[in-house]
Order: sequence, then structure tokens, then C-alpha cells
Amino acid sequence: MSFNRIAVYAHRGWASSAIVKALISSGAPVKVLYRPGSDVSNLPSSVATTEVDLENQSQLVNALQDVDIVASLVGHDGVQKQHAFVKAIPKTNVKLFVPSDLGLRVSDEYDLRVPVSKAKYEVEKAAKDAGIPTTVVLVGSLAESTFSIGIMGIDYPGNRIIFTGDSENQELNICTRNYVAAAYASIFARTPPAQLAGRAIGISEIKATGREIAEVLKKKHGKEPQIFRHSLEKTDQEIDHCIQTGSRLSLSWYCRKAWGNGTLVKGVGEDIWEVEGYKNASLEDLLLSGKLEPYRNVAPEARAAFMAAFKE
Ligand SMILES: NC(=O)c1ccc[n+]([C@@H]2O[C@H](COP(=O)([O-])OP(=O)(O)OC[C@H]3O[C@@H](n4cnc5c(N)ncnc54)[C@H](OP(=O)(O)O)[C@@H]3O)[C@@H](O)[C@H]2O)c1
Repeated sequence: MSFNRIAVYAHRGWASSAIVKALISSGAPVKVLYRPGSDVSNLPSSVATTEVDLENQSQLVNALQDVDIVASLVGHDGVQKQHAFVKAIPKTNVKLFVPSDLGLRVSDEYDLRVPVSKAKYEVEKAAKDAGIPTTVVLVGSLAESTFSIGIMGIDYPGNRIIFTGDSENQELNICTRNYVAAAYASIFARTPPAQLAGRAIGISEIKATGREIAEVLKKKHGKEPQIFRHSLEKTDQEIDHCIQTGSRLSLSWYCRKAWGNGTLVKGVGEDIWEVEGYKNASLEDLLLSGKLEPYRNVAPEARAAFMAAFKE
């Protein structure tokens, strides 16, 4: 199988930078499309780079010549801007669009109240409606955020865990950033785009129930973790409150709810891609052997809000 020519948009993010590095290392020809004001000086000189203003359609169409796959890895603030790709791709020979997702399948109207989930869903739907072959990659929960900042109700340094609904017995689908990066390279470097089109590809490095995570916390700290319990009704109230007040924390409450009612693993789907030759990390590797890598800097208010949730 020959390499696909891959254009990547949004290369400097926390998850995206690792993915771009892995795609470059795969040997596939990578072209980085960067927005005005971004910086490409850290990229190897072998990587093609093109400045693109997504609001300039003709510039975007030109930049997408000689490209097989467009992978957008844009962060939350730029999700809606990806509609520019949906407009441009039909005027090119691009064979596959991979919008920025890296979450879980959400299509239920109630769950689509979470603004970023809705924005991602609308881009993916618009691409499909435009007849663009589209693939999304679904990861569930990133290990580094899951264990470092309390976003899922796990306080690993503080030895505390919140069981939401039935999350004590339900599994969380967890991937490290390195695993996601390796998966992108494994999926997109050489697979013929026609074999990927129309798929929601799940990846899964670790699956663990809340109880299993609590057991590893106990091993780490030498004593039982402090356990709190939240009902699914409480998470609904919190989601409603966040939406009314415009708080971005709705996503955190939504993900906890999805863990607690079993839809998180379902949301990663059944089309699971195995990353050949990759040695998956285990919970013990991450939490007991110090292999958990740091997450990005998170706004102190968000961190404080996650920590404040550790109460009944
Ligand atoms: N499931 C999970 O637990 C989890 C965790 C983390 C991330 N994710 C997902 O992974 C994807 C990538 O995340 P990330 O952490 O790499 O994102 P990020 O760090 O927030 O941002 C990635 C890049 O997006 C570009 N960008 C940001 N705001 C923009 C705007 N308003 N307009 C245009 N471009 C903008 C920037 O590009 P430049 O480099 O050009 O500045 C930035 O480097 C997202 O879909 C995110 O939701 C999922």
C-alpha cells in the first residue's frame, strides 16, 4: 500500500502536536496547513507548510490540491470553522475528511445540548450531507486529563474518586495521547481512503471500571480512596446549569454521566482499530509506575471547579 498524502490543520495543540509528529514519522507525505499567526518553525524542514485563512475559500481550495486526506485537529474554539473544509473539499480531489473529534459518538438530541459536542456533530453531518467521504476517530477519555485534573471525578494525587451513577461497575475507555498519535499514523498513513470512508473508528488502549481504578488508587496510596457518589440526576442538573450559565464544564459533567450510564464505551463504538505493534499502557503503568504524562495547563478556575465537585 502506498502512502496517503495527508494535510493536517491545527498542528500545535496538546493532542494535535503529538498526532502530527506521529504522522510525520510514519513516512507519509504531510502538509501542515496553518492559520495566520500560527508558527511552523518547530516542524522538520521535510514537512510542507502552507498558510491558510479558512475564511478564504479559494486559498483553501488551492491548498488542498495534491492531498488525499484532510485531518483537522482543531481545538474547541475552532470547531465551527471546519465548515470551511466542507465547502472546499467538493472542489478538490480530496478523498477523505477527518474532522476534529477524538471524543465519543453523540447523536441524541438531549446530549447534543453540550455546545462542543453539537458543533462537532454539525460539522460531521454537514460533511456527510455534502457527500464528502468522512471518518471520525473516537477515543473516549484521554488518560492525561482523566487522571490529572479531576475532569472525570478522579483525583489521583488526592486519592479520591466520585462514582457517578453506576460508574463503579461501568467501564471507562481510556487512551494515552501517545496511543492516539500512534493510532492516527496506523490508520491514515497507508490505508486506502475508500476503506476508511464512512467509519467512526474507535480506539481503546485501556478499559477500566470505577472499582478497578479505585483499587489502583488504593495500591498507590496504601489506603482506600475517599469515595463520593453522584446520581445521574445530579449530573443532568449540573449539565443544565452549565448550559444556562455558558460554562464549558458541561462537557465534563456529560462525560461523567456517559461513564455512569454505560454510554461512554458504547460511544466509542464497535469498529475498534488495533494499533499493530504498540504496547498498550496499563492502569498500573500509568498510576503506579509513573508513566502518566502531564496534561496541558488548565485554567485555575476549571481545576478549582473540578476539585470542588468532590462532595456528595
Ligand atoms: N477525549 C478527550 O479526553 C480529549 C482530550 C483532549 C482533546 N480532545 C480533542 O482532541 C482534539 C484536538 O485537541 P487539542 O487538545 O490538540 O486542541 P487544542 O490544543 O485546544 O488546539 C489545537 C489547535 O487548534 C487550533 N485552534 C485553536 N483555536 C482555534 C480557533 N479559534 N480557530 C482556529 N484554530 C484554532 C490551534 O492551532 P495552531 O497550532 O495553528 O495555533 C491549536 O494548536 C479536539 O477535538 C479535542 O476536543 C479530546
